[in-house]
Amino acid sequence: MPGISLKRVTKKNFHEVVQLHDSLTEYQKRCVAPNMVSLAQAYVEKKRAWPRAIYLGGKPIGFIMVALWDDDIPKEDLPAYYLWRFMIAKDYQQKGYGKQALDLLKEKCKKDNIKTLYTSCEMEGNQPYDFYINYGFIDTGINDGEQILKMYL
Ligand SMILES: CC(C)(COP(=O)(O)OP(=O)(O)OC[C@H]1O[C@@H](n2cnc3c(N)ncnc32)[C@H](O)[C@@H]1OP(=O)(O)O)[C@@H](O)C(=O)NCCC(=O)NCCS
Repeated sequence: MPGISLKRVTKKNFHEVVQLHDSLTEYQKRCVAPNMVSLAQAYVEKKRAWPRAIYLGGKPIGFIMVALWDDDIPKEDLPAYYLWRFMIAKDYQQKGYGKQALDLLKEKCKKDNIKTLYTSCEMEGNQPYDFYINYGFIDTGINDGEQILKMYL
């Protein structure tokens, strides 16, 4: 069984990573910005953004991007990372790969001595809120129309 790994986005895998977003349902597309937009943001926020392709063996199947700091996070939870963008291509969802990708992110957080991982999500439907709660995130309430979640590491 090929495993999940996180790899840099390069000239080689750029197009494949960008195209993964097209596989999402219309509702899911409203939950996460296009990977093209995330990569453009990563370019203009080089120091803050940590973008990675999610690989299953040799194939990119998703995208994850972390903000290495965020000014809105309460002081008592610092140092913290913010899970900014996260998606698994439609055909690969519900197979445990999203969970495995978060496990790898958690390992990175622990290695970097991070105390809290934050994220936020749309509340139009149960997705992806239920996924995050199921994974172990705690609901901290709403800010700017988005549900803010956190997890202690
Ligand atoms: C959210 C997302 C990344 C989850 O990835 P995934 O690979 O499908 O999730 P997994 O298969 O690893 O699921 C892990 C667990 O969560 C559960 N789960 C997954 N999606 C769920 C959902 N929509 N509602 C409830 N539980 C869910 C699974 O049943 C599984 O539970 P188990 O461990 O008890 O079996 C994926 O659905 C996605 O890309 N969604 C569209 C983009 C998006 O919303 N991104 C988040 C932006 S905030």
